[in-house]
Amino acid sequence: MGVIIICMYEFPSDFLFGAATSAYQVEGSNSLSDWWEYELAGKLKYHSGPACKHYELYEQDFNLAKELNHNCHRLSIEWSRIEPEEGKFSSQELNHYKKVISALRSRKLEPIVTLHHFTNPIWFSKLGGWSSKKASDYFLRYVSKAVDALSGEVQFWVTINEPMVYLYHSYLLGIWPPNERSLIKTHKAKNNLLCAHINTYRLINSIYKNNNLNKPLISIAQNMQAFVPCIPTLRNKLASYLRAKSFNLEFIERSRQARALDFIGVNYYSRSLVELRGWGLKNFAMDVCEGKHSTLKKNSLGWDIYPEGLYDVLISLKKYKLPVFILENGICTEDDSLRWSFIREHLDKLTEAIKSGIKVLGYIYWSLIDNYEWDKGFAPRFGLIEVDYNTYARTIRESARKLAKVCLERKL
Ligand code: BGC
Repeated sequence: MGVIIICMYEFPSDFLFGAATSAYQVEGSNSLSDWWEYELAGKLKYHSGPACKHYELYEQDFNLAKELNHNCHRLSIEWSRIEPEEGKFSSQELNHYKKVISALRSRKLEPIVTLHHFTNPIWFSKLGGWSSKKASDYFLRYVSKAVDALSGEVQFWVTINEPMVYLYHSYLLGIWPPNERSLIKTHKAKNNLLCAHINTYRLINSIYKNNNLNKPLISIAQNMQAFVPCIPTLRNKLASYLRAKSFNLEFIERSRQARALDFIGVNYYSRSLVELRGWGLKNFAMDVCEGKHSTLKKNSLGWDIYPEGLYDVLISLKKYKLPVFILENGICTEDDSLRWSFIREHLDKLTEAIKSGIKVLGYIYWSLIDNYEWDKGFAPRFGLIEVDYNTYARTIRESARKLAKVCLERKL
């Protein structure tokens, strides 16, 4: 008689399970941000407007996260609210974020706070944005105020969300503000973002030290893609390797060299099928196979669903000997059973990586609620919780209940 071996994985008791949001995508009415100005200038088809009204409804949203057995929540704070004019700080907005963080703490949801998630104050972009020499100084002045105000209640900080994604969209492809298409500005902005991260890391540590607080854990959120050769020719393999090295690993490596990472924050969604059509710089950075070799299921934006990639990118981090935290992993879809199979399959790959020796602090799904998906508007539905944009009513999806069971039982 055959024996069936069921291999179960039990998550450690301090493993964090939660979901993420970002201020601009959910709060609504962030009218002092460069993204809002960009929308009003008619550069985008969709206007974020009141978004999900999360600025008013945050307590209700955190109640739902609690109901789903989460024990952490990732959010971002909006620089343009906190520093609406250069050098002038709003105590009202700082108090708002203090209340938001206390609301998480009182529900036993560990706050993971991001300081920069794609948007900037209008005054900052007028002064040259991230390609300006003074970018990092401006950012640090804001960080100092924000961290001083919130330090007592925050243990996890994320300095910058997806620097490479931001650079590609905003400075190379020019489809996000500030609408640049310049290799020189991309290069400058990249160095400034890195410098801002490293100096922010040091500043946060010194604020905590001066206030006699325990050392916080600080990282970036690095978008990592699985770069897979569409046909395994030597040149496609070489291009995939170089793409992973620069897109996935460069920020991590340089921050690590500066001793400015306590863990590695990973955002993982999909793979890129690499096809090198020529030998120019542009080919190495951009060429992707237009899908003719992909037979995989896709999300509603057409991205391949590729859980194996999560395992591969995690293994590629082993050499850094740092704990990893999955800060975003998610799917936009109208088919909620596909959402659950996406989550389940990615959790399986995550536990395989843990068994292969990767230390993982937690898993955060993107996103807690449906929200404004940047230049794609409100159509993509990433949420564990559905938002009705007419009434702003929230409805928990079935996939969220299934994940809630894993969070409660802490077993797969
Ligand atoms: C970003 C989010 C975005 C999500 C889905 C991540 O790259 O951090 O802001 O909504 O992906 O595209």
